[in-house]
Amino acid sequence: MERLHQEVVMVSGANRGIGGAIARHLHDAGYRMSLGVRDPKARDRMKDSFDPDRCLIAPYEAGDRQSPADWVAATIDRFGRLDAMVNAAGILRTHDFRDEDETALDQMWEINVKGPMRLMRAAYPHLKERGAGRIVNLASLAGLRAVGNSSGYAMSKFAVVALTDSARQTGWSDGVRATAICPGYVNTDMVAEVQIPAKADMIQPDEIARVVKMVIEMPNNASIARIPINCRNEPLY
Ligand SMILES: NC(=O)c1ccc[n+]([C@@H]2O[C@H](COP(=O)([O-])OP(=O)(O)OC[C@H]3O[C@@H](n4cnc5c(N)ncnc54)[C@H](OP(=O)(O)O)[C@@H]3O)[C@@H](O)[C@H]2O)c1
Repeated sequence: MERLHQEVVMVSGANRGIGGAIARHLHDAGYRMSLGVRDPKARDRMKDSFDPDRCLIAPYEAGDRQSPADWVAATIDRFGRLDAMVNAAGILRTHDFRDEDETALDQMWEINVKGPMRLMRAAYPHLKERGAGRIVNLASLAGLRAVGNSSGYAMSKFAVVALTDSARQTGWSDGVRATAICPGYVNTDMVAEVQIPAKADMIQPDEIARVVKMVIEMPNNASIARIPINCRNEPLY
């Protein structure tokens, strides 16, 4: 461990995938962590691998309107401060604009967009209080350009980029900096069925975690708005 940090970081979707890698990386770097996980069994499993003296493992269900405020309140109750929020929880469903059934689109809007928005709303006063609060949202390359026929996921990720840009504008004078991380394929369960690129050629979750740590640690006068990350040669926009 580099050193113990006073700073407190919230990470959603912290039990697996990208959120899991970020949680592990920041924990091992000495941060105080508040980890949002919806599944009680997963929360239980995580207890042994995170230092209980500086980690809170709390319920977070993005589909529940009250859950974001409850998790932020539990974080403040435990640590008395909040320095950074990382929104990693998200879902990928197939919805094309020609599909009449909009259920999948509504789910992605709720989990990918409204969940982070509600968390940011609850967290904002505490981030502002620090004078150097950080919001890091897992968007996607799909939030920068739409390819293929999954307009629903792209729409949700464009919205995450818009939400992040907006928070950046709103938060600037309060010292709050917001960053949208926009990776291509990352080797997690989310893309388990993708054959090309091969898993080993995808971005590995630990690499995203390293980027998130850097973003959190950048000073107020060197902020990064968006970070596209590619695993192959492809157009950005
Ligand atoms: N993998 C990629 O290629 C890729 C690329 C670009 C961007 N992203 C984005 O990166 C983020 C993380 O993706 P990932 O690849 O790590 O996905 P993942 O492996 O499928 O993990 C998703 C995480 O989100 C949580 N989650 C899902 N629905 C939730 C809900 N209703 N409430 C609270 N938590 C919920 C999951 O919890 P459970 O374990 O309980 O299901 C899990 O912790 C997502 O926003 C995704 O869109 C991924």
